[in-house]
Amino acid sequence: MRDQATNLRHKLSISKNPKHAKTISIVSGKGGVGKSNFALNFSLELVKQQNKVLLFDLDVGMGNIDILMGLKAEKTIVDMFNEQLYIYDIIEKGPEDLAYIAAGSGLTDFFSMDQTKMEFFLKQYNGLVQMYDFIIFDMGAGATHDSFAFIRSSDECFVITTPEPTSITDGYGMIKHIVNNTKKMPIYVVMNRSASKKHGLKALDRFAGVIRQFLHVDVRLMGVLPDDKTVQTAVTRQIPYLLLNDKAAISKSMKQIVSNYLSNSVALSTTEPLSFVQKIKQLMIER
Ligand SMILES: Nc1ncnc2c1ncn2[C@@H]1O[C@H](COP(=O)(O)OP(=O)(O)OP(=O)(O)O)[C@@H](O)[C@H]1O
Ligand SMILES: [Mg+2]
Repeated sequence: MRDQATNLRHKLSISKNPKHAKTISIVSGKGGVGKSNFALNFSLELVKQQNKVLLFDLDVGMGNIDILMGLKAEKTIVDMFNEQLYIYDIIEKGPEDLAYIAAGSGLTDFFSMDQTKMEFFLKQYNGLVQMYDFIIFDMGAGATHDSFAFIRSSDECFVITTPEPTSITDGYGMIKHIVNNTKKMPIYVVMNRSASKKHGLKALDRFAGVIRQFLHVDVRLMGVLPDDKTVQTAVTRQIPYLLLNDKAAISKSMKQIVSNYLSNSVALSTTEPLSFVQKIKQLMIER
């Protein structure tokens, strides 16, 4: 019954307002640099600015997007495979009506699924593309061979780093890996946990300079987020910081980042003619 109803809703939603979602991977070299908090609050601000967003926790096994919202997802991506559910049945609603898919646990390697599962997943994913403006993947830190296929098939990639040398070095390693595999991908860099805006901008500029010099590509400087205790409070209270205190320094910076992004974002067709599904098929099915 539930399947029929959701499928119907899904069909209606497609026919009423067909879209073409931009798929964005949120990645980092080093772990714990702020990807999930970025992904969640960036998504919420996009929703506040009238976009339809699906936040997809792909840190399978370690995912925490629902916890950051004080929710416990009823169904997860793991259940989709275990219980043969449609992807529409595992989409949950968070604050501000943000749609999300939780990562779940008990599946050690989601990314190395067999061909039949992959085809099932991509068929349903294709439907999602018509329902949303943005599909945002919160990835785990680093990348395995197969999770990297998701990253490099995305339309855009946001690399989160902090000014710490270890985070910068690992962020550089991630960007090098992306550039070596796909030159066309627009790469945005966020400098998180900066002591001051000036310090953060300087670190961001230096980082972009090194990438230009050694990798011969221009990354897009998305902006700086301050080191703000509001983030820890938000995580502890399980309320996204934008909703906890929209006047906090971190919230104001996030709003600025989203506005800049929306006013400068690149149209899909100008960067890469192939869609996420077409690219990942080439990498994972037709290999
Ligand atoms: N801008 C910030 N200011 C202060 N603390 C922050 C900031 N961003 C992140 N943190 C701290 O870092 C912790 C980890 O953040 P988060 O879970 O978003 O990182 P992550 O990159 O997703 O981690 P993982 O690699 O484990 O998935 C937060 O719980 C918070 O304590
Ligand atoms: Mg995370």
